[in-house]
Amino acid sequence: CQTTPKVPHIALLDSGVGGASLLVHLRDKIPQAQYIYGFDNGGFPYGERSEEEIIERQLSVAQKLSDAHPLDLIVVACNTASTLVLPHFRQKFTSLVVGVVPAIKVAAKQSLSGSIGLLATPATVHRPYTNQLIRDFANSCQVTKVGSVALVEEAEKKYRREMVDLEVIAKELTPLFLNSSIDTVVLGCTHFSHLIDEFKQVAPRQIH
Ligand code: DGL
Repeated sequence: CQTTPKVPHIALLDSGVGGASLLVHLRDKIPQAQYIYGFDNGGFPYGERSEEEIIERQLSVAQKLSDAHPLDLIVVACNTASTLVLPHFRQKFTSLVVGVVPAIKVAAKQSLSGSIGLLATPATVHRPYTNQLIRDFANSCQVTKVGSVALVEEAEKKYRREMVDLEVIAKELTPLFLNSSIDTVVLGCTHFSHLIDEFKQVAPRQIH
């Protein structure tokens, strides 16, 4: 006798539209899954929230989703949250939990100059988790950290098909281009993937 294969239920969480940049890839890899997206718009932007608030809000959003749908996988599609909440999630939920954290390791491997940038939210660039990543994987690199809330707002605007402000974007990227040895920049916020085209447009020189 044939049994119908189980449809996996996957939840993605973010403060806004950042996680949508991951959803595209997940759908591509696991098209048969049922996806649920938890926007915590009430808590947006996370980059300016306290650690306690983010933990509490994320746990509460995930709990609501998991009460409504039996979840197989929870994806914390936000660097600002993942660098804090993953141990709390794994303690509380029986579903698999994965997160996204800044790709420092990849950047350090790829950089030829040994000088890399980290573009993330102000909260992520200061997290002990991020500093530990740098110590573990980019110890021999020079890492320039830039935190931006304005870019998160611009990404939300773009997703809503509103005009983005290229001057604001260029200004936020300036610290990364002041250091001429930086050849690789980590986009340590899921919102920033939505702005790749604009980053390329305003960048005064080419970097990875
Ligand atoms: N998308 C989130 C991240 O990856 C942050 C957005 C926010 O500041 O709310 O860090």
